[in-house]
Amino acid sequence: MTPVTNLAMSVVRGRRDTAATHAVPEPGPGEGSVLVRTLLVGVCGTDLHLVGGTHRASASGPDAPRLVLGHEAVGLVVEAPPTSGFAPGQLVTGIVRRPCAECAACARGDWDFCTSGAYTERGIKGADGFGRTRWRSEPAYLVPVPDRLGELGVLVEPMSVVCKALETAFYVARRGPSTPARLLVTGAGPIGLLAAAAGRDAGLDVTVLDRMRTGVKPDLVTTLGAAYTDDLGTLADGPHFDLAFECSGAAGLIGPATALLGQAGVMMLIAGGAADPGSVPPMLLRANAALVGTVNAGRRHYAQAVDTLLRVDRSWLCRLLTRRVPLTSWQSALDRDDDEVKVVVEF
Ligand code: BGC
Repeated sequence: MTPVTNLAMSVVRGRRDTAATHAVPEPGPGEGSVLVRTLLVGVCGTDLHLVGGTHRASASGPDAPRLVLGHEAVGLVVEAPPTSGFAPGQLVTGIVRRPCAECAACARGDWDFCTSGAYTERGIKGADGFGRTRWRSEPAYLVPVPDRLGELGVLVEPMSVVCKALETAFYVARRGPSTPARLLVTGAGPIGLLAAAAGRDAGLDVTVLDRMRTGVKPDLVTTLGAAYTDDLGTLADGPHFDLAFECSGAAGLIGPATALLGQAGVMMLIAGGAADPGSVPPMLLRANAALVGTVNAGRRHYAQAVDTLLRVDRSWLCRLLTRRVPLTSWQSALDRDDDEVKVVVEF
C-alpha cells in the first residue's frame, strides 16, 4: 500500500506570511521509535506569534529553515517496538519540551525549569512539531490518552500548562494563612476556560473576567458553575480572591487583578505577551502577594491533565473546539474572531 504523502503545516521561521501546507519527508528513526498518525492539532497564541514572525524563538535570514508547527496534538500510534510500552492503535499526545544536555534541572527531568535555555520545543523552538500527517517520538516523550478522552486528547497539552500553574499556585499559597478558596481567571480563551474547569475541579469558587458580553464564552463559564463578568469594576465590591490566573496576555489587567487579591494572594501569569514595563502594583507588597510566572509543563502535569480532563464534563470540553479546519487550509485557523475558543486542524 502506498503511504499517503506526509503533509505538514509549516512556516519559515522569522518570516511573516510564509504559512503553508507542504510535503515533508517521512520522519526518520532518529526522531524516535514510535510512529504516530496525527488526528487533530490545536492552534494557540504561540502559533500566531510563530506565523507572524514575532516569536522570540524565530530565527530569520535567507537560509532560515521551515519549521513544522503543532505542539498540541492527538494522534494514533501506527508503529511501536514491543518494549516501548505503546501499541498500534493507541491514542497519544506528545510532550512539547525536550531537555538540554547541560543543566541540572533538565537532568532531573524538570525540563520546564531549564536554566541553560538550550531546551528544544517541538513545533516552537529547534524541533519540528506534530502538525504533520505522521511524526515520531521517543516513548519517554509520549503520553497515553485514554480512549474515553478520544480526540479531546488535543487539550492535554494546554491543560498540562494549567495543571502546572495550579500546582504552583497551591504550593506558593501554602506560605499564607489559609487554603485558597477563590480563583479569578482573566481571559476566557482556551487556557482561561481550561483554568476555570480545573479550578472548579479542584473545588475552587471561580470567577472569569473577559471582554465578551455574550456568546459561547460566558455560556461555557456559567455552565461550569463559575461566575462570569465583563466588568472588572463589579469585582472590587466582592470578597477578595486567593488566586488570580492571568490568561489573557493583556499586561493592563495585571495591576487591577492584583488589587483584588487578599492576604498572601498569588497571581500566576500564564499567557504570553504580558511584558508591560508598568510599575509593580503596591498591593503585591502590602498583601505579601506573590506574582508567579509559569511556562510549559513537566511529565506529571501531563498525567494530571489527562485525569483532570477525564473529570470535566465531556460535552463541555467538546464545546471548546469551536471550529475545525482541514489541513489543506490550516492557515484559516489563524484568523479567529473573539467568540471562538479552540480552533483545531483536522488531519
Ligand atoms: C506551550 C508551552 C511552551 C510555551 C513557550 C506554549 O504555547 O503550550 O508548552 O513551553 O508556549 O514556548
